[in-house]
Amino acid sequence: MLTSAVFASLFLLASAQPWKRSLFIESITDCSQLPSYSNDTKIAGPWTIKVDSCYNGTSPDGLCSIEGFESGSDITRQRGDRPNTIEHGFITIVSDKNNLKTQLRCNGLLNTIEAYVLSGPGDGALDWHAVGIDHHPSTGRLVWGKPDAEPVQAYRHYHHGEPVDGLFLGSNNQTNWSVHSAGRDVSITDMKPYWVPRLMIPETSIRENEFRTLIRIDGS
Ligand SMILES: *[C@@H]1O[C@H](CO)[C@@H](O)[C@H](O)[C@H]1NC(C)=O
Ligand SMILES: *[C@@H]1O[C@H](CO)[C@@H](O)[C@H](O)[C@H]1NC(C)=O
Ligand SMILES: *[C@@H]1O[C@H](CO)[C@@H](O)[C@H](O)[C@H]1NC(C)=O
Ligand SMILES: *[C@@H]1O[C@H](CO)[C@@H](O)[C@H](O)[C@H]1NC(C)=O
Repeated sequence: MLTSAVFASLFLLASAQPWKRSLFIESITDCSQLPSYSNDTKIAGPWTIKVDSCYNGTSPDGLCSIEGFESGSDITRQRGDRPNTIEHGFITIVSDKNNLKTQLRCNGLLNTIEAYVLSGPGDGALDWHAVGIDHHPSTGRLVWGKPDAEPVQAYRHYHHGEPVDGLFLGSNNQTNWSVHSAGRDVSITDMKPYWVPRLMIPETSIRENEFRTLIRIDGS
């Protein structure tokens, strides 16, 4: 009797465990679990982030031409910005070839993900700035210089309880992104074409000419 009662409660426990669901994600709360962590500086990185598992619904094989493309960045100007000063910008996806890549890192002292991007007077200077999700229904972009941006972090994915290779960037338990081409726009940083990643937040839906993808930390 005792054995079967114990067995029954173990069974209940197992079926209640969330990681038995087909997809489960777990947040990485400490930089020390990310690639290239230094215990001396408490910094993991630098690394780029890249398009991973991108799905192209209009292609017969589902493959995306931008699979594996890495992070770049561009700056934005808005009404009310101070002239001749770079205040904010966003992370882009750029071609594997030729383009300037933008590096990111996890700063364990501040517990933030940062990018090495332009900011400040004139043409700006490269420095590390915290990045986060511009939590506005029309964007969901990964930005710096916006104080109300939602923090991002890394997540591990599990499929039917088995860990999936790689660590993926997300926010608020959401790791699905969409990517679209910037069209004829070129980046201010290197005058090359680029793509714009957006985190799929509850308020957004995928648009025409957008591709679903994950964003993976390179080296993970
Ligand atoms: C990491 O650094 C801390 C001190 O900052 C030290 O106590 C700890 O032993 C170090 N761990 C490793 C694995 O070197
Ligand atoms: C998606 O597939 C279509 C049709 O094959 C192709 O024209 C387009 O360039 C692809 N886009 C990406 C981002 O892979
Ligand atoms: C994310 O998921 C975990 C585990 O399911 C949960 O404990 C946590 O509250 C969730 N966080 C957010 C911000 O939704
Ligand atoms: C991502 O999108 C898929 C397909 O819509 C969905 O099943 C999954 O729950 C989403 N997962 C996360 C972690 O965002």
